[in-house]
Amino acid sequence: MSSLAVIPGDGIGPEVMAEVLKVHAVVEDVFGTGLKTEVLPWSADWFLEHGDVGIDVLAVRRDHAAVLLGALGDARIPDNRHAIRIIGGLRQQLELGVNLRPVRLRALAHCPLKHVTAVEDVDLVVVRENTEDVYVGVGGAVRAGSPAHVAMEVGVHSRWAVDRVVTAAFELARSRRRRLTLVDKSNAMPSAGPLWQGRFRAIAASYPEVECDHLYVDAAAMELIRNPARFDVIVAGNLFGDILSDEASMLAGGLGVAPSASYDPEDGSFAGVFEAVHGSAPDLVGTGRANPLASVMSYSMMLGRLGLREAHAAVERAVDEVLCGDLLTPDLGGTARTGDVGDLICRAVARHDKD
Ligand SMILES: NC(=O)c1ccc[n+]([C@@H]2O[C@H](COP(=O)([O-])OP(=O)(O)OC[C@H]3O[C@@H](n4cnc5c(N)ncnc54)[C@H](O)[C@@H]3O)[C@@H](O)[C@H]2O)c1
Repeated sequence: MSSLAVIPGDGIGPEVMAEVLKVHAVVEDVFGTGLKTEVLPWSADWFLEHGDVGIDVLAVRRDHAAVLLGALGDARIPDNRHAIRIIGGLRQQLELGVNLRPVRLRALAHCPLKHVTAVEDVDLVVVRENTEDVYVGVGGAVRAGSPAHVAMEVGVHSRWAVDRVVTAAFELARSRRRRLTLVDKSNAMPSAGPLWQGRFRAIAASYPEVECDHLYVDAAAMELIRNPARFDVIVAGNLFGDILSDEASMLAGGLGVAPSASYDPEDGSFAGVFEAVHGSAPDLVGTGRANPLASVMSYSMMLGRLGLREAHAAVERAVDEVLCGDLLTPDLGGTARTGDVGDLICRAVARHDKD
């Protein structure tokens, strides 16, 4: 029997994760996946009480097949040290260099663009480099606090990391509609730009069946709104991928339905970390208004990556059913509560073998 590490985290993290665990119990009943769960209490509360002690991300990979993460972020830790330690630690120490953020419209009503007239027009994946760029913590401040304060945040881009994420994006594009767009800001980044462009061109030579194009990030932000149907797979660095994927999520209903998977493409024994794109949403805590679907969809991505195809298909179908119905949380215009949506998913999955 394999084990899943579950990190509910902060804010709405525990609320949405409770729904994922309900869904997992039904999946276990229907499909017998043999995946037991172990809840790890790492959160702002934990960090304030214990500091770093006991947060051993390398042990997570040794003991578990995958991680389900709720969200991390708490106003009591304004520099976000605990989240950087936990999420950053998982991504960097486990070399989870590839972050997939799919955006697929399931019912036209969820797209705010009046010129999108078919659900098929919004079906894309942002493939984000997950370990480098300005997220590495390299930099410093000079004369902090004075009028002459200087701050530096260094963007790091290694050929190794670029190669891994670009190759993963080509592999994904090959399995989809065979179109890959590189997004960067090479016109203003004379050091990182040529590395990304050069490696993209070199790797493209091994994928002649994939149609390639390139957009500067400012143009890509506009094109996502103007003509989302032009995109199949987008590959970008950590910062641009982070921003564009939040923007793209709005095309399909917003952060409440934006899942993600982070993984090491060379590690066959550890499936990765699966978490909603959204944060801890302090404005929603305790209101019952948080949409659990982004976390359920991340769980579904995990099932797919673990090769549990039938269970994955059943959860996807349940999500489709919910998003095409009218029992929706307020972010999607409904009045349902977090637990109502979780229950609906559970019932749809449980019906699976009776259909
Ligand atoms: N991976 C992560 O854990 C992660 C990601 C982003 C932000 N954060 C942290 O989360 C905290 C809050 O950040 P933020 O407000 O910028 O981003 P956020 O994603 O928490 O919230 C942004 C907006 O989206 C809404 N929203 C988010 N999740 C939702 C859901 N499931 N259902 C319905 N609406 C939802 C919120 O109500 C809010 O209006 C910060 O501490 C930040 O550092 C964590």
